[in-house]
Amino acid sequence: MSNLAYQDDALYTLEQLAEDVEALVAREKEHAAIVAAAEPLLERFLAAGSLPEEYCQPAPGRITTEHKDFTLYRLHRGPEDCFNIMAAIWPPGGSSGVHDHAGNWVVEGVYRNQLHTIRYKRLDAGTQPGYAELRETTALDLQPGDVAHVLSPNEEVHDFLNQTDEPVVSVHIYGGDISTETLNYFDPAGKSVERVAHDLQYDNE
Ligand SMILES: [Fe+2]
Repeated sequence: MSNLAYQDDALYTLEQLAEDVEALVAREKEHAAIVAAAEPLLERFLAAGSLPEEYCQPAPGRITTEHKDFTLYRLHRGPEDCFNIMAAIWPPGGSSGVHDHAGNWVVEGVYRNQLHTIRYKRLDAGTQPGYAELRETTALDLQPGDVAHVLSPNEEVHDFLNQTDEPVVSVHIYGGDISTETLNYFDPAGKSVERVAHDLQYDNE
């Protein structure tokens, strides 16, 4: 990376990321295209290291539920929730559980430490209530600066786990508002799925 590129990255703030994503979702409606264009924006933001430190620390009074043992901060709210930018802080041993995102696109990346992700392909048609058959397709550790995406229908089901002894900070650009959505949570071994509504709350609101 040249010095010029580094200086450019260093100037890339949360506000600039939000502006760029807003322009992107205004001109592009196809999820695959949004994801492809948003990943380099998030890479640039992660490389800049400009996330305010207050969003890198777990919330003191964070609300822990069955599906959320991590801190979730809303960093930016797009017009009419067409996108949201969030930071998550994963405690050591914490995980999201195996879930999907209600058909929404997501671009996410690691800001600090290392986050393990497992991706699954759903094999059944989703027509039998409570039943789901998953096959693990990928398992990898995302390092600082690495980005990944969620794209319905074939790149949607995943799990995040912090397998380290330190908190992990990640940044997520979400094609909606996760706090208002009904997500599927899966038990791959038990071949079951449960619909869970509105279980994720922002810890800074
Ligand atoms: Fe997710």
